[in-house]
Amino acid sequence: MTSSSILYTVHTLLQRAITPGDVVIDATAGNGRDTVFLADCVGPTGTVYAFDIQEPALQATAIATSNLAARVRLVHAGHHAMLDHVDPADVGHVAAVVFNLGYLPGGDKAIMTTSETTIAGVEQALTILRPDGMLVVVCYKHDHGQCEYEALREVLQSIPQRQASVLEYNFINQMGNPPMAFVVIKQPL
Ligand SMILES: C[S@@+](CC[C@H](N)C(=O)[O-])C[C@H]1O[C@@H](n2cnc3c(N)ncnc32)[C@H](O)[C@@H]1O
Repeated sequence: MTSSSILYTVHTLLQRAITPGDVVIDATAGNGRDTVFLADCVGPTGTVYAFDIQEPALQATAIATSNLAARVRLVHAGHHAMLDHVDPADVGHVAAVVFNLGYLPGGDKAIMTTSETTIAGVEQALTILRPDGMLVVVCYKHDHGQCEYEALREVLQSIPQRQASVLEYNFINQMGNPPMAFVVIKQPL
């Protein structure tokens, strides 16, 4: 991954926000690359919940994390039902939640995140995060992704400043429509 990738930027930020032993959430497991990164960040005593609605994605993530399985909880459910699947003891104590929107690379492109489910998931993530916790959402601004980006931006920009700081990371000198990221930092107590 090079510094011209938005994932490089968000992983760098997440590395600073997560410490060994933390509980974190990958809201879109996909092929498991972000789950592996998060599992490395939390170390052997931490926990990563990895959500996906697709069995092939969970299978790919299980393979990618096979040597880290003890710290990864695969959840076959949508992130819009996150609160139903996170241990109540972890609610309010999660260090980071990561959404990497769109479809499964190499999979069925018709199965993708939607504005409605993403916004529902993001709202629940903000409840689940601990004070000072970090929410990251990577958006792809192609056809459908543009609408999802706009709908999400509207929701995020209306979060009161006393609750969270919301940042938008964009490459302003890349060709086409490069992916971007929202980073939300919940206010400390
Ligand atoms: C771009 S991929 C994620 C890439 C992944 N983080 C990685 O590192 O490989 C998006 C994933 O979101 C999943 N997805 C779509 N809607 C979802 C939902 N409501 N809840 C959870 N996952 C969802 C898709 O099945 C797909 O696997």
